[in-house]
Amino acid sequence: MCGIIGYIGNKNIVPLLLNGLKKLEYRGYDSAGICIVSNNRLHLVKKKGEISQLAKNPELNEINGNIGIAHTRWATHGEPNKINAHPHFDCKKEIAIVHNGIIENYHALKELLEKEGHKIVSDTDSEIVAHLVEKFYSGNLENAVIKALKCVEGAFGLAIINNSEEKIIVARRGSPLIIGIGKNEMFVASDVAAILNHTKKVIYLHDNEIAVITKQDYSIKNLEGKQIDKKICEIKWTVDQIEKGGFKHFMLKEIFEQSNVIKNTLRGRIKDSKIKLTLNLNTNLINRIIITACGTSWHAALIGKHIIEKIAEIPVEVDYASEFRYRNPIIKENDLIIAISQSGETADTIAAVKEAKSKRTKTISIINVVGSTIAREVDSGVYLHAGPEIGVASTKAFTCQIVSLLLLALFIRQEKGLRLDKKILQELSILPKKIKQVLKKSDEIRKVAEKFKDSKNFLYLGRGINFPVALEGALKLKEISYIHAEGYPAAEMKHGPIALIDENMPVVFVSPKDHTYEKILNNMEEIKARKGRIIAVINEEDEKLNKVAEDIFRVPKTRAELSPIINIISLQLLAYHIADLKGIDVDKPRNLAKSVTVE
Ligand code: G6P
Repeated sequence: MCGIIGYIGNKNIVPLLLNGLKKLEYRGYDSAGICIVSNNRLHLVKKKGEISQLAKNPELNEINGNIGIAHTRWATHGEPNKINAHPHFDCKKEIAIVHNGIIENYHALKELLEKEGHKIVSDTDSEIVAHLVEKFYSGNLENAVIKALKCVEGAFGLAIINNSEEKIIVARRGSPLIIGIGKNEMFVASDVAAILNHTKKVIYLHDNEIAVITKQDYSIKNLEGKQIDKKICEIKWTVDQIEKGGFKHFMLKEIFEQSNVIKNTLRGRIKDSKIKLTLNLNTNLINRIIITACGTSWHAALIGKHIIEKIAEIPVEVDYASEFRYRNPIIKENDLIIAISQSGETADTIAAVKEAKSKRTKTISIINVVGSTIAREVDSGVYLHAGPEIGVASTKAFTCQIVSLLLLALFIRQEKGLRLDKKILQELSILPKKIKQVLKKSDEIRKVAEKFKDSKNFLYLGRGINFPVALEGALKLKEISYIHAEGYPAAEMKHGPIALIDENMPVVFVSPKDHTYEKILNNMEEIKARKGRIIAVINEEDEKLNKVAEDIFRVPKTRAELSPIINIISLQLLAYHIADLKGIDVDKPRNLAKSVTVE
């Protein structure tokens, strides 16, 4: 949510910052700006709209320098326009800041600063920080920032420069920030994607840390002024992974990557029919599991409940992180909290983990981004190894989350001394092949998308472990095509949504051949009787449902625990093709951001 990049060094700074912003665009894209120090002056260029709009600005051709910061915005306070775009200045235009997060006490600070004569020009909470730093500045930017941050409540990832000191000051509380280390050059960014083609050596800043970055060096302290030694981490991601690789959109590339990345999730974790996970857990002591997450990760959690209860034989509750954190949840000594998050930076999920930790519960995470906040907060965890996910609508992270939940369930069962079903391990090993078979249907699915792309509403129905697949299918469609879609348990449909069925309503059924099959067939007949238009995801050998449905996507049969993976892929493709046919920029759906780092 909002992207920051900063650079200090001798490279051509404008293209470097613009390219970095481009890589961060999935974090927000309603306005963008750059500020560069040259000849003891701050040169600021901002623009409403996407980074491509900013890049067209001729003023950028005239600026050069060795220090600069840039930002792509996802609006929280103040509408997306040029004035509210970052960077923001102080009154004298000698200090510039870019900010991610929310300054919660900004009304009070604004009032105070205005009384002292500061002229605040934007509607943002962020601009306040520039004026606070100005208020405390007396020749040392770092000291002024420390004093300013003592007044600030809320979350921030900040990069700050001024016209006279050759340094960038960065500070973090709640919003991710990394320092990239180069030779005679340094980078700051909210995400490794922005700097990966320059360096793979990074330092993750933790909450309440502040760093002073010069061309050759960096020094990190906490906000109390205590010097901190930090580990330099080597990023494993490659530059190719953050390029589109010939696909029209990142989302499509990531859908197609699923057969491969699932192999990465599995790699080294099944050996001689044993599950190898490095988890700090006494499985015999777990009485109950609570899984907490947001968005697509929450849907994976719902699937995880089915898998864990069946395999590990432990009751599971699933809670939205945003609800869990404020409910004062009853957590007992032998509960285990699992946080699921692609980014590891979702503000509500971080807060849920902190809430659990405050009650001294064991916490583990299922995360994609190595070194992210949640991964660091928990006792131990499972990384997805899905590679960078850039498309705003999550796809490959979802399927890798399900695989990880299955591994976790099997691991708990094994550690409890219960027998593992070898057939499920065999099925896992052929899952990538089966995924490829679904991906081959992309063109076929596009034809169905063409037929339904102008529909105003969609209903998605599924049962049991595939009910969350219906929720996720509906979420994918609304996120990127802006068509209203609802997911429902197929049987529950009779208690309300059935009133919506007419000849204009496409109803997508997720209907594998499992114990719910005959019931789903009945539900389909109920829709058909009311002239609803049925699209069904069915198994290859199914010769019944194809007679009821108007359109079918045939997918290979697999074990119930793995069927959500096989089924969701055709629905990801359906949503993608509908959105693409409608001419929507699938990777930048309106109002959404990849990583929601504010509450
Ligand atoms: C945002 C994204 C979703 C994602 C959700 C949770 O809403 O647009 O795709 O599922 O955040 O993100 P996380 O990184 O915690 O999985």
